[in-house]
Amino acid sequence: MLRIGLLTSGGDCQALNATMRGIVKGLANNVKDLEVYGFMNGYKGLIYGDFRLLTGKDFSGILTRGGTILGTSRQPFKLMREPDENGLDKVEAMKQNYYKLRLDCLVILGGNGTQKTANLLREEGLNIIHMPKTIDNDIYGTDMTFGFYSAVNIATEAIDCIHTTASSHRRVFIVEVMGHKVGWLTLYAGIAGGADILLLPEIPYDINKVVDAINKRNARGSGFTILAVAEGAIPKEIAKLGKKDQKKAMEKLMKKHASISYKVAEDIREKTGIEVRVTVPGHTQRGGSPCPYDRVLSTRLGVEGARLILNKDFGYMVGIINGKCKKVPLKDVAGKLKIVDPNCQEIQQAKMMGISFGD
Ligand code: F6P
Repeated sequence: MLRIGLLTSGGDCQALNATMRGIVKGLANNVKDLEVYGFMNGYKGLIYGDFRLLTGKDFSGILTRGGTILGTSRQPFKLMREPDENGLDKVEAMKQNYYKLRLDCLVILGGNGTQKTANLLREEGLNIIHMPKTIDNDIYGTDMTFGFYSAVNIATEAIDCIHTTASSHRRVFIVEVMGHKVGWLTLYAGIAGGADILLLPEIPYDINKVVDAINKRNARGSGFTILAVAEGAIPKEIAKLGKKDQKKAMEKLMKKHASISYKVAEDIREKTGIEVRVTVPGHTQRGGSPCPYDRVLSTRLGVEGARLILNKDFGYMVGIINGKCKKVPLKDVAGKLKIVDPNCQEIQQAKMMGISFGD
């Protein structure tokens, strides 16, 4: 008998269900007796013993279904060692629930924060496999996370739609793309959507350079400009400050503006007199059906996870490196972020064709 637990934690994304399907099908076809326990709503379910015994039926027909059949929640890593409001030791509670069910392995699907807790549970002696999910593609140790390309598709479509209206109205349009810490999604959707200016968290922007780029386009007779702005884009004068002051300055800005895009819009309006409109696709970027690439990626990662479980090879994230599924030791990657290198080829190429990064 093989008993595994599954949980999805953090912000959802497309292909969480497809990944779980890959894991369970990969196991069910290769062991005689399998029990799969699904913990509900992320680590909450593991802490408070909220789980369901799942059957083959639960995994049928979910390849194309976005969201997660298990539900999810954000449980900050930094609070994991702190008792809950009733004094419960969360880590101890998670271990007890794992042992009570006599699990052979717990498969955890999630992003960076989730991965840190997965590694903590590994350090505590549990058999853990982690699956890299996030639309942000910011997990260190894997070339790609599932969810990313589905979100790129949606953000690109938003920019595509803005293109037609932008060209009719001769305005400046800003499309705000998800990603507080990293700009992969903005970079890829921005290039795919043919945006003119991309503002990423990794490249602090100079508003005067942004305005120069708009003026240059107008002087050429382009008439409209589209900016793809990451949620975490940061003005260069704030980026210069120390961490604490940076946080304070951003909080102050956010009291005045709903998000950084509105600040950029206001500044452009003031400096150019041009009308600016902001579009925020927001959580639509995490919604809907996974794109074919993500269906394949998540199925492959899931099946590779199953293979590791069958080999009793625990303590790994299943990543994809140069097109091959690889086991990556959790201890080597937990807590690290894969940010966009401002000198990477994609950015150099984008700059060469005239895309501005406001730097
Ligand atoms: O990490 C995924 C992500 O969608 C980020 O791109 C975004 O900044 C954040 O989550 C939004 O979080 P929430 O869903 O909690 O508002």
